[in-house]
Amino acid sequence: MTTYNLLLLPGDGIGVETIAEVERIIDFLNKAGRVKFATDTGLVGGAAYDVHGVAISDADMDKAHKADAVIFGAVGGPKWDGVPYAVRPEAGLLRLRKDLGLFANLRPAICYPALADASSLKRELVEGLDIMIVRELTGGVYFGEPKEIVTLENGEKRAVDTQIYTTSEIERIAKVAFDLARKRGNKVHSAEKRNVMRTGVLWNEVVTAVHKSYAPDVQLEHILADNCAMQLVRNPKQFDVIVTDNLFGDVLSDEAAMATGSLGMLPSASLGAADPKTGKRKALYEPVHGSAPDIAGKGLANPIATIASFGMALRYSFDMGAEADLLDKAIAGVLAQGLRTGDIMQPGMTKVGTAEMGSAILAELQKLAA
Ligand code: IPM
Ligand code: MG
Repeated sequence: MTTYNLLLLPGDGIGVETIAEVERIIDFLNKAGRVKFATDTGLVGGAAYDVHGVAISDADMDKAHKADAVIFGAVGGPKWDGVPYAVRPEAGLLRLRKDLGLFANLRPAICYPALADASSLKRELVEGLDIMIVRELTGGVYFGEPKEIVTLENGEKRAVDTQIYTTSEIERIAKVAFDLARKRGNKVHSAEKRNVMRTGVLWNEVVTAVHKSYAPDVQLEHILADNCAMQLVRNPKQFDVIVTDNLFGDVLSDEAAMATGSLGMLPSASLGAADPKTGKRKALYEPVHGSAPDIAGKGLANPIATIASFGMALRYSFDMGAEADLLDKAIAGVLAQGLRTGDIMQPGMTKVGTAEMGSAILAELQKLAA
């Protein structure tokens, strides 16, 4: 039987609780016996800082490099607000992305029918919504140098972040978007700010060239990122795949998430380049939401985004599309039964906590798999 190695990095806050629910799904799949998942755990974020004084240790980075996939919870919290910038919790996640070369971040925003009324947008705008945001994840202003705060001669401070993109960085993310679009609605919107940024000009040129040579069969629209933000709340269903840079992708994906009802619903996959020999990609799967310190440790968190992220691992890392479909169906089924965590609670529904939601999804999965 094939054994896959998973590294679980729960991190901080609700990450710990939501990853615990994923572990129950893993146990179930192991008992079902088609493949075996061997799990190891590590520390990231504030949890790593408390023990090692860094946001992720070299030993845990080494485990991440060797794992077939990393399943990540969340990082951060007020407890670490004062720690030095270089070792702040988020630095652990950024190091994982950069060192593993996870340049392609897939963020599907899907509105489950049962949740259409939980969205801040009208039901008819979001019912059936299915958008894939493809966010460039290892370049742009997140990593460009210089990145510093310097004190000027007059005593004033000056802060600099640097937005950088090269042709090859844009080409590879554009190809990911076109490949995905072919399996979906065959339409890509490329979002940038070519009207003010040189990186936007290059982004636009390169995406246009990749489209011409690589994917003329796919419909391509260029859109300014601010207009994209506006269109996402005006008429989100016009979008199929949106490809955009690291920073715009961060912002647009939170916005798209809320259209689906809650940030607690949105999974993501971060993928590296395919290994030329094995075809395998390094991969990390994480919910788009953060560590939610206000509700952490109370058993109130919505585990769906983390469970659905594991579903993306089944699909993209382990070629277990059938199991991933069942898991998505189980989530939809539980929502259709009226179970809701606090973030998606609606009048007349049944309010449950993290573990109850996890149990219900597991029970539904067992039923569907039988
Ligand atoms: C995300 C998060 C991260 C980001 C933070 C935690 C560094 O907001 O994954 O969207 O900005 O990329
Ligand atoms: Mg974000």
